[in-house]
Amino acid sequence: MPRASKWAIRLSLIHFAAGILMGATMLFAKAGVGSVGLLNHRLTHVHMMLFGWLVQFVIGVAFWILPKFSEAPRRGNTTLVWASLLALNFGALLGTVEPWVPTLGAAGWSLEILACVLFSVHLWPRIKGFDG
Ligand code: HEM
Repeated sequence: MPRASKWAIRLSLIHFAAGILMGATMLFAKAGVGSVGLLNHRLTHVHMMLFGWLVQFVIGVAFWILPKFSEAPRRGNTTLVWASLLALNFGALLGTVEPWVPTLGAAGWSLEILACVLFSVHLWPRIKGFDG
């Protein structure tokens, strides 16, 4: 597994654990266990689960397994992938404070979208059939 995939998948698991914990506290709050104020933290949960976990896991696996080039660099422009992971994690981190500081939340969404664009640009030339 390439280094960027290892980082992406490990980081995604950290977001997954934190996001599930957050989701569980919200579920309990809905059942009357804990403060209902916890339900105001839904957006924190969304940034963690949607971008920190799902999108990041997909990026990690896609970078690893999708078709490679026959010549080096075999996985294409790796800088774009690292830039995408940086934007994604920084964005998800900023996104977690959205319920308290909406402007930082907006910056988080922008970075998360940028991360998706950067990864798509990286991946586009690698989407090819085995017949060329
Ligand atoms: C891939 C996994 C998941 C994703 C993408 C996801 C995404 C979301 C989204 C988009 C919302 C709606 C937020 C809103 O209304 O603004 C939400 C709400 C919520 N999620 Fe998740 N979630 C995931 C997993 C979980 C898990 C595992 C739990 C529980 C342990 C959980 C518990 C909740 C709760 C309690 C709410 C609030 C529901 C409400 O307001 O009625 N989620 N989630």
